[in-house]
Amino acid sequence: MKVVQFAETGGSDVLKLADVPKPSPKPTEVLIKVEYSGVNFIDTYRRTGLYPVPLPCITGLEAAGVIEALGAEVAPEYKLKVGDRVGAWVQGSAAEYAVAAAKYVLHLPSHVSTRDGAAVLLQGLTALTLLRDAHEVKPGETILVQAAAGGTGGMLVQIGKALGATVIGTTSTEAKAETARANGCDHVIIYKEKDVEEEVMKMTEGKGCHAVYSGIGKATAEADLNMTRRKGTFVTFGNSSGAIESVKPLDLAKNNVKLVRPTLFNYLIEREDFVTRSSELLALVEKGAVKVNIGGEYALADVGKAQDALVSQKTVGKLVIKI
Ligand SMILES: NC(=O)c1ccc[n+]([C@@H]2O[C@H](COP(=O)([O-])OP(=O)(O)OC[C@H]3O[C@@H](n4cnc5c(N)ncnc54)[C@H](OP(=O)(O)O)[C@@H]3O)[C@@H](O)[C@H]2O)c1
Repeated sequence: MKVVQFAETGGSDVLKLADVPKPSPKPTEVLIKVEYSGVNFIDTYRRTGLYPVPLPCITGLEAAGVIEALGAEVAPEYKLKVGDRVGAWVQGSAAEYAVAAAKYVLHLPSHVSTRDGAAVLLQGLTALTLLRDAHEVKPGETILVQAAAGGTGGMLVQIGKALGATVIGTTSTEAKAETARANGCDHVIIYKEKDVEEEVMKMTEGKGCHAVYSGIGKATAEADLNMTRRKGTFVTFGNSSGAIESVKPLDLAKNNVKLVRPTLFNYLIEREDFVTRSSELLALVEKGAVKVNIGGEYALADVGKAQDALVSQKTVGKLVIKI
């Protein structure tokens, strides 16, 4: 089968289209014929070595397609069978076939295509867990979402609105600001034109936000902390500009701020949590509260181009790979 993999860490040039044997599912795994693979920032952290992985490594962590085979010990209560349309977290989704742990395989309802399934699962669940588990957003709260036109940011805005928050978003350009407004932002600050901290403090009468959601990492860390109100939560969940090194525990005392640095996978270790949050997400998609915004579709051979576009701030919404 064809895959895109890397045998050494580095830039997107280390990604190679290769032929490898089609895998067989282990007893508790499911073999999926992949139709779409989602592109995520984490793919670039693994490729560059920021998050070390065993090599060679097939890139991509998110697939949607059709079940081709099941391991002998897949729990019957999951009700998975050959031919089912599913979305899944898998290691190595940029491939014609991928094996996934059965506990992370989910039926796609008829209203969700495999294209949208590969687009919504990882970023949608990230946003949902950040808004429900990292800081439980309550109606009437004001939250800040950095990169509000991006994949995860777009989900945070939409779900934040659905949960009753007032959402302030940031973007680099006016074109992206339009996307952020379409996502539902109440206010958008274009950070290349205005000082975000100053604007947020004006909008919140000097108090700051109940929660600040930032995947930007080091470039905005200090401002993110300053924009979190007393007893609020600074949720830092990514390293788009590099990992944070500057914020120290003592810095939190100024406003008794809670600092959390979660990963999606650690919220959803158990099948029950994965299914509960996924059902919640898919229900929001079904009622139209969350719209899947696909910013680009690439061929398997162009995975590197997709990853480059993502890290160079050229994208809005979600990028997918058509297998
Ligand atoms: N913790 C978790 O479990 C988890 C799960 C999923 C994603 N994440 C994190 O969420 C963040 C967003 O991921 P995504 O896949 O949804 O990407 P994305 O938000 O679609 O793309 C990144 C956006 O960040 C903004 N940005 C600002 N400074 C940047 C810089 N120096 N380099 C690159 N981008 C910069 C850009 O928007 P502007 O042009 O508007 O600035 C860019 O479009 C990443 O940090 C990722 O690691 C974490």
